[in-house]
Amino acid sequence: MILSPDKRGHVLPMPVVLISTVDKDGNRNVAPYANVMPILRPLDLIAIASWLRRDTLDNIRDTKEFVINIPSADLVNEVMICSRNYPESVDEFAEANLEAKASQKVTAPSIEGCIAWMECVLSREVVEDGQYSIIIGKVVHLEVDDRYLAENGDMDFEKARPLSVVAGDAGMHYTVPAGTGDYREYAEMFTGGN
Ligand SMILES: Cc1cc2nc3c(=O)[nH]c(=O)nc-3n(C[C@H](O)[C@H](O)[C@H](O)COP(=O)(O)O)c2cc1C
Repeated sequence: MILSPDKRGHVLPMPVVLISTVDKDGNRNVAPYANVMPILRPLDLIAIASWLRRDTLDNIRDTKEFVINIPSADLVNEVMICSRNYPESVDEFAEANLEAKASQKVTAPSIEGCIAWMECVLSREVVEDGQYSIIIGKVVHLEVDDRYLAENGDMDFEKARPLSVVAGDAGMHYTVPAGTGDYREYAEMFTGGN
């Protein structure tokens, strides 16, 4: 079946994160984002795409910082509550009954109960066509809940169940990653003399 080009989110699973920010007066804000992409391994940059009409974007522009919280699948209801279009003064921590966790390097609070937390400072903003913006953040503090680490220090993703999403025609299918049983070392990519 041929799909229309705007349906690319129907065939590409995307991570779901909760971005926490504060405005210039310190009011807290939380919103889910799925357009999130680390920029190349092993750099410390991460890009998010945002519509211009987002309190999250206004707050990042004003304060130059944000936290990318990684929710587990248990937080779907909270994700949906935070996705509602509230007036900017509304505190989504309170609306969704989320507990704040002090951040280490930025003013914006992190979200207690998430799997991991990326504290970011604004590195660059790329506005494309007056509709959306691509924010590039530099991760200045990265922390993961020890409960979700395997013995070798990698993430135990089947235990953590980080939330992701596959778009559908009338809604979103929430998903979690499942291992295929394949584990391949990076070195395998560099054999063959390249
Ligand atoms: C799973 C999910 C993913 C979303 N991803 C994005 C995204 O990547 N970019 C965006 O601009 N809005 C995204 N949204 C919509 C915003 O979360 C929503 O408009 C929210 O109300 C924005 O809040 P804010 O104005 O407080 O920033 C997403 C919503 C959901 C439920």
